[in-house]
Amino acid sequence: MARFLSRICVSLTLLLHSSIQATTSISHVYVVYLGANRLNDVVLASSHHIHLLSKVFTSKEDAEQSMLYSYNYGFSGFSAKLNSTQAASLAKLNQVITVFKSKSLKLHTTRSWDFLGLTVDSAGHTPPPQLAYGSNIVVGIFDTGIWPESESFREPPQTKPIPSSWNGKCVVGEDFDPSIHCNRKLIGARYYLRGFEETYGPIDRTRDPEYRSPRDFLGHGTHTASTAVGSVVRNVSGFSGLGRGNARGGAPLARLAVYKTCWGKDFEGVCTEADILAAFDDAIHDGVHVISASFGSSPPLTPFFESSADIGAFHAAERGISVIFSAGNDGPDPGVVQNVAPWAVSVAASTVDRSFPTRIVIDGSFTLTGQSLIFQEITATLALAATYFNGGVCKWENWLKKLATEKIVLCFSTLGPVQFIEEAQAAAIRANASALIFAASPTKQLAEGVDMIPTVRVDFLHGTMIRNYLADSPTVPMVKIEPSRTVIGESTAPSVAYFSSRGPSSLSPDILKPDITAPGIGILAAWPPKTPPTLLPWDHRSIEWNFQSGTSMSCPHVAGVMALLKSAHPVWSPAAIRSAIMTTAYTRDTSYDLILSGGSMKSTDPFDIGAGHINPLKAMDPGLVYNTRTEDYVLFMCNIGYTDQQIKSMLLHTESFTTCLPSHSYRTNADFNYPSITIPSLRFTRTIKRTVSNVGPNKNTVYFVDIIRPVGVEVAIWPRILVFSKYQQEHSYYVTFRPTKISSGRYVFGEIIWTDGFHRVRSPLVVFLSNGGCFASN
Ligand SMILES: *[C@@H]1O[C@H](CO)[C@@H](O)[C@H](O)[C@H]1NC(C)=O
Ligand SMILES: *[C@@H]1O[C@H](CO)[C@@H](O)[C@H](O)[C@H]1NC(C)=O
Ligand SMILES: *[C@@H]1O[C@H](CO)[C@@H](O)[C@H](O)[C@H]1NC(C)=O
Repeated sequence: MARFLSRICVSLTLLLHSSIQATTSISHVYVVYLGANRLNDVVLASSHHIHLLSKVFTSKEDAEQSMLYSYNYGFSGFSAKLNSTQAASLAKLNQVITVFKSKSLKLHTTRSWDFLGLTVDSAGHTPPPQLAYGSNIVVGIFDTGIWPESESFREPPQTKPIPSSWNGKCVVGEDFDPSIHCNRKLIGARYYLRGFEETYGPIDRTRDPEYRSPRDFLGHGTHTASTAVGSVVRNVSGFSGLGRGNARGGAPLARLAVYKTCWGKDFEGVCTEADILAAFDDAIHDGVHVISASFGSSPPLTPFFESSADIGAFHAAERGISVIFSAGNDGPDPGVVQNVAPWAVSVAASTVDRSFPTRIVIDGSFTLTGQSLIFQEITATLALAATYFNGGVCKWENWLKKLATEKIVLCFSTLGPVQFIEEAQAAAIRANASALIFAASPTKQLAEGVDMIPTVRVDFLHGTMIRNYLADSPTVPMVKIEPSRTVIGESTAPSVAYFSSRGPSSLSPDILKPDITAPGIGILAAWPPKTPPTLLPWDHRSIEWNFQSGTSMSCPHVAGVMALLKSAHPVWSPAAIRSAIMTTAYTRDTSYDLILSGGSMKSTDPFDIGAGHINPLKAMDPGLVYNTRTEDYVLFMCNIGYTDQQIKSMLLHTESFTTCLPSHSYRTNADFNYPSITIPSLRFTRTIKRTVSNVGPNKNTVYFVDIIRPVGVEVAIWPRILVFSKYQQEHSYYVTFRPTKISSGRYVFGEIIWTDGFHRVRSPLVVFLSNGGCFASN
């Protein structure tokens, strides 16, 4: 335990240290964004960047010294160390669109516990579709790097040569030799350290075990990469055979390109925006087809063109690259979804139909079942955590004063401030307990991964039964916890993880986010054998497969599916591929009920799951798709306040450029041709337009519309029949919304479904009814 204590001290000292640095040093890393890249010459572009930067320095040499990266492939811009005066002067220049401080983003694993300095992770694998496509597709993973020796990254038999369109490479680094570690599966591996080291100082091996190379220390990148594109590996399991089966990524034949943008700092993954933008710039140049990035930052969200991830994704999408982000792990409160740009995909996390029931036997007779990932039987006497707390205050400092040594401790999430399981676990470790029984709301009981101390999750009902047994027992009860079993198919699934970040978007509530949900709880995937499964320094277990949970894990599932779609339909745009996964997503679980929202135990709405749960086979043949055209982006950028000139310099294709309408009566993006429809504020009658394109197998086809109306809203669609006679033919339709009751502000939900008898093209409707006080007329 001494090591645990010293970890906390180390983090505190670091905090003090960095705040002192902040007051004595006034320079920060800034990103200067200049829009699309029109110079097809790297040397010219970077000398242009130096020229601009020199305007705020006394000499060209100083400017060159302060520059971290010149971004000159996918878009134009640079990052540099500047003081606030210099940043402000650059922002005034005509060609500069935005200047912003390079922030640090975090990986979207299970909630991060900065105050403890601990990271706990877990996960599982869902059987993906029986499709073997994808060998012509390159998936870029922006994460913590890769453990190249994992079986997931072996070349599958008869691997075809690397696609000739590939421009990327593997770079040399610490413990990373491209001639040994890269192959026809792992075809690209780069790392980005300048932003991180400029912000946090050089990597210090005593503080941050890391490799100065594409090699992964934290395990997160290895896990997400194997989920997206891992080769098939037979008969794998977590510890002691839990979750045994074949491991494979969503697109097992797709190629992998690793961009290490996130670095271990105090056992958490930190990614700086200067580094992230450099990775986007390279990935666009290298020729990846799909990018998966499982990081972000909690609200307040920064404007789209002051965010590296959104800028990078925008230029990637313009060049036909699909970008998939995780929605974040800030749920279940509404309005906390992250990565909300309309040119990318934001993924929520949900369960699979696998569970790990774990029996608790008390005094050899009283038996109940919880959820855990326990490998060995544990027997000990029972103690209720609350008995260790002064005056009912559940503080682990107090807990430590008493002895819980070698006991099985029962703790309630509702008893005192120990609300979260990680906190209770840390306290149990400090108290030298042998195991923890944690009682929480029913949706928080899922075993999410390998715990730092054996932990059985139970609901309040079972927790209360144990507590009352203890209270009535004349002797101290003896508890036996049996090893967990793996059970598939018996639990209703999916349900949305309580931690999954919910909509509406706090940046642009007129675009529904998240877009979709995918498996993100208890995901089993590859793991570096040198990294402890719990990431804790005193955990000396070595494993090749680990359970992890988070929207970090659901994001690469969607990336794998999108790689398959891109392979099957090479000409589809990122918007068309996103439309295909969204309009074919399902909203009912294995019991044919609406998918449950973990956290509330009520039916989900689009703020939990977006369009629904991904359905890869259906997405292969969606019938119709909603494409995004340049005019949609122009509308969007006008609405968020950019001028014609700025928009023009941000767009790669300006042929169909239309100027912003000065008399825009509604500053809303409801007409953005998105596969979901959001009316951010319905006061009076409102009509919006959508355009669909026929991508079905039949060029001659007729679609009819079905409407599920939101409560209190009349919805009329015209025309109600769409007749197609050509492949890729487009038709528009109009949807008119009219409030039929008074509401001073609430969200109501519905659906629009176009069907030709075979395809069902479903769009969720989200209407914010706010006609407060007066009946609307036309
Ligand atoms: C910012 O840096 C410039 C160039 O080094 C210098 O002239 C200026 O005084 C600095 N401003 C502040 C506020 O430190
Ligand atoms: C999978 O591996 C386990 C443990 O090594 C072994 O007992 C089992 O027979 C294997 N199953 C198959 C189908 O190969
Ligand atoms: C916990 O166990 C360690 C080693 O077994 C021992 O040194 C320490 O005193 C114990 N701590 C408490 C609070 O019992």
